[in-house]
Amino acid sequence: MYRNCPHIQRKCEQVTVTRNLKILEKYIVNGGNPLKGEVRISGAKNAAVAIIIAALMADEPCTLRNIPNIGDVSVCLNILESLGASVKVIDKTAYYIDPRQLRSYSVPYEYARLMRASYYSLGALLGKFSKACVPLPGGCPLGSRPIDLHLKAFAALGAESKIEKGVVMLDAKDGLRSLQKKIYFDTVSVGATMNTMLAAVKAQGVTTIDNAAREPHVVDLANFLNSMGAQVMGAGTSVIRIRGVSRLHGTDYTIIPDQIEAGTFMAAAAATGGDITVTNIVPRHLEYITAKLSKIGVNIEENDDSVRVWTDGPLMGTDVKTNPHPGFPTDMQPQIAALLCMAYGTSVITERVWEQRFNYIGELTRMGASISVEGKVAIVDGGQQLKGAPVQACDLRAGAALIIAALAADGITEIENIEHIERGYDNMPEKLRLLGANIKVKDFPDLAAASIA
Ligand code: EPZ
Repeated sequence: MYRNCPHIQRKCEQVTVTRNLKILEKYIVNGGNPLKGEVRISGAKNAAVAIIIAALMADEPCTLRNIPNIGDVSVCLNILESLGASVKVIDKTAYYIDPRQLRSYSVPYEYARLMRASYYSLGALLGKFSKACVPLPGGCPLGSRPIDLHLKAFAALGAESKIEKGVVMLDAKDGLRSLQKKIYFDTVSVGATMNTMLAAVKAQGVTTIDNAAREPHVVDLANFLNSMGAQVMGAGTSVIRIRGVSRLHGTDYTIIPDQIEAGTFMAAAAATGGDITVTNIVPRHLEYITAKLSKIGVNIEENDDSVRVWTDGPLMGTDVKTNPHPGFPTDMQPQIAALLCMAYGTSVITERVWEQRFNYIGELTRMGASISVEGKVAIVDGGQQLKGAPVQACDLRAGAALIIAALAADGITEIENIEHIERGYDNMPEKLRLLGANIKVKDFPDLAAASIA
């Protein structure tokens, strides 16, 4: 199912079994080594997944560069091929996508269910065919993840929607056109902003999105669409205006670096008392992460496209509130929580984007963390020496938090359910090993599944 990431591919092919036991993989981390050296950040997951799907809208082939080698990218490429596009690998991080033979507007369930970003097929197919059939998306379990704002925006562009047997069906019978003076989102939504942009670039007239998301990946998608001849103005502010065009030409586009991968390595360096340089980044995208790390007592030196991160004294607790960009990103909340376990004093973490993004805390507690949760607030009693333990990643960033905790812990941590981590991090074990971490990938038989069967 995943086919680019060699590690993930091996795993999917490996439904081979020993005595009917499915073989899974886990990370084995022997903690305590301070991270040292240089790490290169890959392309941004949340930009890549939208831009790859947006490439289906082009009337000519596109070349996409700086694409991360992760599970979610493989799913996006599989979606394009299932619709009739041809995908060629140029090198490890670049793809040539030719959508000229694309004929279908129905995304197969087997791919849609694997990730949240499959919902970008709704906007892209609607833009291309004025129709789309896309099963409701999967993705990390972070509480309820509605798509009402997406559907509201599509309606404002003339598309009727219905959901039958778990499939979202969109139909703009009279073609896509801007029917409302502006589309106002009462909640800031990355997905709804980007999906609306996708459909609106091919809708007649001018579409205005008010209270739009301002994340770097929103801007990256707008830049990509504009490089194909679209007219998207104001991305990165809360008001985006899109003048529809009838045709999108091919392009050669390089995706921005992943701010969350960068932040994760920065937190890992701080947690292990290390000294690393994180390269291939845009420091401006990391401002709220670097500000918070400085407050905790981490040293940060910014350069044009890299940051050096090191510690030379104790870390101090602080409060963190997640918010849409330019606030502190929710996608860094679990990783900063893992770091705050090592910082002296009490830290209060407030999650303001997702209903349930503290599911990892039970696993950190297994490692000796002292954290209590009440609703959307977690209180960390820091300054603890964590101890290795067997733990499970319940979602992507939860998995990253467990890796950070494991790197700083005494002894061995075994992290299961690593498929969540590999959906969004490009070769994390190898990058960590190059920084001096002791981390291995190990096969193990799925005894739990065997006992249920
Ligand atoms: C994107 O999810 C990211 N996913 C998430 O990344 C990230 O956590 C999130 O944005 C916030 O930054 C991708 O880009 C693929 P939203 P998305 O729509 O678009 C509510 C990661 O770890 N809402 O901005 O699904 C919603 O419930 C992940 O990489 C509605 O009410 O998030 C939430 O409270 C996980 N109705 C808030 O808006 C809607 O129709 C923000 O969600 C849509 C959203």
